[in-house]
Amino acid sequence: MSFARLALFASFLSGSLALPSELSQRQAAATNPNAALPGWTFVGCFTDAAPATRTLQEHTITNPGMTPLLCTEFCGNFTTPLNFAGTEFTDECFCDFNIQGTAVKVNDTLCNFPCGGDSTLTCGGASLISIFQNNNTGVGPLPTNKAKVGNFTFDGCFKDVDGTDTRTLLESFTVQGGVTIEGCTGTCLANGFTFAGLEFGEECWCGNGFNLPLANITAPLGDCSRACEANPTELCGAANRLSVYSIPPPVVSSSAPPTTSAPPPTTSTTAKPSTTAVPPTTSTTSKPPTTTAPPPTTSTTAKTTATSAPPTTTTKAA
Ligand SMILES: *[C@@H]1O[C@H](CO)[C@@H](O)[C@H](O)[C@H]1NC(C)=O
Ligand SMILES: *[C@@H]1O[C@H](CO)[C@@H](O)[C@H](O)[C@H]1NC(C)=O
Ligand SMILES: *[C@@H]1O[C@H](CO)[C@@H](O)[C@H](O)[C@H]1NC(C)=O
Ligand SMILES: *[C@@H]1O[C@H](CO)[C@@H](O)[C@H](O)[C@H]1NC(C)=O
Ligand SMILES: *[C@@H]1O[C@H](CO)[C@@H](O)[C@H](O)[C@H]1NC(C)=O
Repeated sequence: MSFARLALFASFLSGSLALPSELSQRQAAATNPNAALPGWTFVGCFTDAAPATRTLQEHTITNPGMTPLLCTEFCGNFTTPLNFAGTEFTDECFCDFNIQGTAVKVNDTLCNFPCGGDSTLTCGGASLISIFQNNNTGVGPLPTNKAKVGNFTFDGCFKDVDGTDTRTLLESFTVQGGVTIEGCTGTCLANGFTFAGLEFGEECWCGNGFNLPLANITAPLGDCSRACEANPTELCGAANRLSVYSIPPPVVSSSAPPTTSAPPPTTSTTAKPSTTAVPPTTSTTSKPPTTTAPPPTTSTTAKTTATSAPPTTTTKAA
């Protein structure tokens, strides 16, 4: 038995053996019915469709002495503290900046496995996770999409290599400083593209339209639930899901007199496209990049493994 486990076991047997800091934490936790660290609030029992889609994906730890206190301490202990901590299957702990969109909240009574470190407390269940939210000061806001970044507007969440090997946006780029909404849209723009897609927390894809029919790639907004690794206050798609931003086609004013020399307008002259809800028109015959744009240097077209593989931190199935 390791010293840490021994110490934990010993302090569990008798509070008087605990270090003063541990004792004060336990006393504070005692006033919290969920026995989590102060500042953490129980938000409920959620499904966890492990291992394909983890509900909390960023970090994990397994400890036979698991308690809500230990798990919330672990998740709040990172340089950028996580917003959520969850216990599962008696001895597992997971952390994330967001509860992934694949999770479904269920009746709290279903999370009824005893905690490994304190059998009077509950630590999730089989494929069920007890989730706590970090309400301490200094903890970042939950990740969100941005309605507008530069001249790009948010189009929604779309499928990628989901049941097909065909990519939704064809060009992959490395973004200096890591993938963020600003960084990816800026990189796509600089390389002559009007569509930018963020995926799996860390990928940036560009194009001049969707490479697949809209009907094949439509996804619920909530599917794009993964925080950007480089800025956890922003959303960066999910596994096989793209958060898409695009520069809308120019709106032709209905009051402007038609000029004979101008090319026929491609957009409706009566309906101004909405900047938030309406997905962009599908470009099945995707335009090649403009000739003035520099050729993409870091693009790859066959990066299918990155998004189809489950996150590396979630190898243990409950
Ligand atoms: C939290 O971080 C401190 C300092 O790095 C470390 O001593 C402690 O073991 C950590 N706690 C957990 C639960 O990881
Ligand atoms: C949760 O389950 C318990 C036990 O079956 C039941 O009494 C309670 O009404 C349920 N709560 C909800 C919100 O469904
Ligand atoms: C914790 O923060 C969330 C998000 O800001 C909020 O919805 C919730 O009410 C807070 N809970 C407590 C107990 O402050
Ligand atoms: C947005 O588009 C307008 C018109 O093409 C251009 O003048 C402006 O510089 C663009 N802004 C950004 C941030 O790219
Ligand atoms: C789009 O979906 C339809 C219906 O599932 C399917 O038959 C078709 O092959 C798909 N198209 C592409 C290009 O994947």
